[in-house]
Amino acid sequence: MTSKLDNFDTVALSEDKRAIQIIDQTLLPREMKMISLTTREEVYNAIKKLSVRGAPAIGVCAAFGVYISALHSTSDDFFSDLLSAAAYIRSSRPTAVNLMWAVDRMVSVAEKNKDRLREDIVNALLSESEKIYDEDIECCRRIGENGLALLHEGDGILTHCNAGRLATVKYGTATAPMYLGHERGYNFRVYCDETRPLLQGARLTATELHMAGLDVTLLCDNMSGALMRTGKINAVIVGCDRVAANGDTANKIGTSMVATLAARYGIPFYVAAPTSTIDMSTPGGEDIKIEERDADEVTRMWYESPMAPDGIKVFNPAFDVTDHELITAFITEKGVVYPPFADNFISLFEKE
Ligand code: MRU
Repeated sequence: MTSKLDNFDTVALSEDKRAIQIIDQTLLPREMKMISLTTREEVYNAIKKLSVRGAPAIGVCAAFGVYISALHSTSDDFFSDLLSAAAYIRSSRPTAVNLMWAVDRMVSVAEKNKDRLREDIVNALLSESEKIYDEDIECCRRIGENGLALLHEGDGILTHCNAGRLATVKYGTATAPMYLGHERGYNFRVYCDETRPLLQGARLTATELHMAGLDVTLLCDNMSGALMRTGKINAVIVGCDRVAANGDTANKIGTSMVATLAARYGIPFYVAAPTSTIDMSTPGGEDIKIEERDADEVTRMWYESPMAPDGIKVFNPAFDVTDHELITAFITEKGVVYPPFADNFISLFEKE
């Protein structure tokens, strides 16, 4: 892959605003290919198959998806067709709350404009989806500033999965302080877990940080304990897919293992989270629906021949829940939130 990632948007509207353009992340780092989405089915499949992935990017793509569905609707019953497109896109993945959050925002704009001309509704949806896109960029930029204040020059930072620019419109969440620190000469050493089974760490995080010139070292998922024990890691920063009201956090499978290790070695464990990922309607981690994916991702994918016996039982949850007690703080666009999370999230939202 020769092209610089910075030349491409993870997810954006085309120039004529009639299609969504995304980087097909299933092909990275082998191939850098943009794909165009114009139908609700294409949007649904791109999210489900992880061509576009990462909670904030999924939210932005879904918002554009609702707009595009309305724009291209041929139904006589425009409004109910719009609602059914929104419900369909909303069901493409279960865990990342940004998906539901973004679709619900779009539906509420549609409902507010229900009695207007079809063209006006479409325009209102375009403007709301562009707002969600712009807000994502601004949130990540602020997360970068707030996160950088917690770090020190020369720190070793571990991250898991990809909460990078490929998971958002720009900068990423967990990676935003890393990019900013890099710009400001902090000389961070970033360690990145490969993140089985879909290798978002190796294929995406390692790729984007390496291309941006950061000092990045790739690890298999069972190696971070060795580094933590020898003092090479000063902080862990991960992203998240849904934060419950008590602070329990769903993120890529393996995150809770990293958090447990970090607690053992007294290393701060930070979760970078736009406030759109905090779901105050979900009381605790046990209430978060965890996506389970195909066994093939564990047994066959990435291998020339299967690496497990035919018919073996496979457990393949895409996410796990990290208990809030293991989390040092949440880095949000509105500031850093420390325990007790249940109370401090309420104050955070009251600030609005
Ligand atoms: O299955 P994925 O690749 O969508 O999982 C992504 C993650 O778990 C990310 O850490 C999370 O969505 C945060 S992205 C800023």
